Amino acid sequence: MPVINIVNREGASKKVDAATGASLMEVIRDEGFDELLALCGGCCSCATCHVHIDPAFADKLPQMSDDENDLLDSSDHRDENSRLSCQIPLTAELDGMTVTIAAED
Ligand code: FES
Repeated sequence: MPVINIVNREGASKKVDAATGASLMEVIRDEGFDELLALCGGCCSCATCHVHIDPAFADKLPQMSDDENDLLDSSDHRDENSRLSCQIPLTAELDGMTVTIAAED
């Protein structure tokens, strides 16, 4: 199981054993990080699951869809490491990745 290091908005971090097959959003939410609202439940229509990904893992992530790109454009806190966590399936390749929950819009 990949170990993911989750950093909350206050900068506190927690390492979790993540089940492959779940989305990164589900892992963060199930670990009790309720600041990640994920209001649409993973349908790629709300952008409240916005995270910043460790750039070292950028090439291990699935390509961003046009819908995800458009939604991220609605955030004032988008940067080059921004992704919607519901669009990232957990794979063994992501072992050791740090993900930081984006500031609230
Ligand atoms: S949970 Fe709504 S876009 Fe990810």
